[in-house]
Amino acid sequence: MFDTMTITKVIGAVCGSLLIFLLGSWAAESLYHTGGGHGHGDDHQQAYVIDTGADEAEEAAEEEVQVPFAEYLAAADAASGEKVFKKCKACHKVDGNNGTGPYLNGVVGRAAGSADGFGYSGALVAVVDNWTPEHLNGFLENPKGYAPGNKMSFKGLNKVEDRANLVAYLQSLGG
Ligand code: HEC
Repeated sequence: MFDTMTITKVIGAVCGSLLIFLLGSWAAESLYHTGGGHGHGDDHQQAYVIDTGADEAEEAAEEEVQVPFAEYLAAADAASGEKVFKKCKACHKVDGNNGTGPYLNGVVGRAAGSADGFGYSGALVAVVDNWTPEHLNGFLENPKGYAPGNKMSFKGLNKVEDRANLVAYLQSLGG
């Protein structure tokens, strides 16, 4: 059944592919080895990086945590903030009159829940004493999450620049 020739051929084939495999992995290693000519030194570097996009998202998140809101506010533009305020106008006035929401002129630095004659839910004062720029930033990013149970139906402003411009606009209105 198996004569010597067949066995020799089989062994030859196995040895051949083994050799090709060894040569292949050696070639691959020297191709992707970027250690700079040290051969098999201990400084194995990653030859390529697969960009999953995760790093960028992480960086963006870190940036938001690391840069204080005051810095965004310092660079903010009240005129752009007035445009952002269009999203609030349906409910908020800035002339001292209440609408669906309390009037917002003078709100920066104002005690929470203190607009004359407005029927608040009580959820805001549980979380906020005074409307500092930082509180406004947190509240406007995620109203429901920041003061659970409050009755402002607004999903929030994602961009920190929008929130900073808006707070600059509210600040510019004065009392
Ligand atoms: C759909 C109506 C609606 C929209 C849109 C809306 N708000 Fe409000 N807002 C409310 C209501 C109602 C309250 C009172 C919430 C409570 O008492 O629970 C409120 C409360 C507030 C307060 C607290 C004021 C205080 O006197 O304590 C601030 C600040 C505020 N809103 C800012 C904004 C800003 C800025 C926008 C736009 C980005 C906005 N709101 C969009 C309805 C709205």
